[in-house]
Amino acid sequence: SPIHDFLKLLPKCEHHIHLEGALTPPVLFQLAQRNNITLPQDDDAFQSSEFLLQRYQRFTSLDDFLHYYYIGMSVLIHASDFEALAWDYFEHASADGVHHAEVFFDPQAHTSRGVDYRTVLEGFQAACKRATQELGITTELITCYLRHLPVPDCLETFHHEAVQESYKSGEIRGIGLDSSELDFPPHLFEELYTKAKGTGLRLTSHAGEEGPSHYISSALDDLQVERIDHGIKLAGDEALMKRVATQATMLTVCPMSNVVLRCVKEIKDVPIRAFLDAGVKFSINSDDPAYFGGYILDNYCAVHEAFDLSIDEWTTIARAGIEGSWCGQTRKDEMH
Ligand code: HPA
Ligand code: ZN
Repeated sequence: SPIHDFLKLLPKCEHHIHLEGALTPPVLFQLAQRNNITLPQDDDAFQSSEFLLQRYQRFTSLDDFLHYYYIGMSVLIHASDFEALAWDYFEHASADGVHHAEVFFDPQAHTSRGVDYRTVLEGFQAACKRATQELGITTELITCYLRHLPVPDCLETFHHEAVQESYKSGEIRGIGLDSSELDFPPHLFEELYTKAKGTGLRLTSHAGEEGPSHYISSALDDLQVERIDHGIKLAGDEALMKRVATQATMLTVCPMSNVVLRCVKEIKDVPIRAFLDAGVKFSINSDDPAYFGGYILDNYCAVHEAFDLSIDEWTTIARAGIEGSWCGQTRKDEMH
């Protein structure tokens, strides 16, 4: 359709994609076999790629998804595994019209299994380099900390020699905070964020996905983040929504993720219209495309289907995404 073609051609930036969330069931089974990883025998979902995909369509919550997400990534061992995973994502992103991608990964989810941080980074960097050379996609890497793990574990990872090296060299642009939200409020990670800011890193955090709106204000006040990942619970808090609009904090909204993880009943319930009306800046993202049934263009199309946005509104959204990116001004000017 003409609108699908328009949305595909619109210069898009993606800011909320977990590379581990780009692991499709076929690749998961292929790597499990190649790397001799035993998948859970007591869960029928792991009997085949088809079963697993069906199970993904019945997620009941963020934690239900995260259970599969952490098992899935256990098949990633070698730098070449991480490279292939990220490359698969960049090929999809390119086909969808992404010009710039700021991608998350979870160092602790790999180092805790005995996979070296350098191995993970080496693989992802190789794919980023290829993405720029062969697809013209510029990239930034963001390390996410797992909020369900003890705070000292996060601090230890932050201070790890190879991690520090990647921060100080600029190989990593910023940090984020992900995983199970409700029991792990933002303020617990104040020290981590203060240290990251002191290192010159950009700051974002998942907040207001399942958690209440005061987790969003806590991320802004206690962690001093400049972006909020998800942030859909903002819509129920008029005063906070005004603040976020005034200070131009960008939300990285993930509509299909919100539906699949049952944060909302349908795409129509994602507060896209409320954000546009309040002047809240946001980008539209895929989150974990292999788990939630679509890449970025599917998310753009789903939003259009539900809200019938005008060309002007789509242009506003695309512009906010470019402005809210963590690339240099020269690259932003190129994309505008
Ligand atoms: N929320 C929290 N943690 C995550 C997500 C998410 O949407 N995706 C991957 N880890
Ligand atoms: Zn996420």
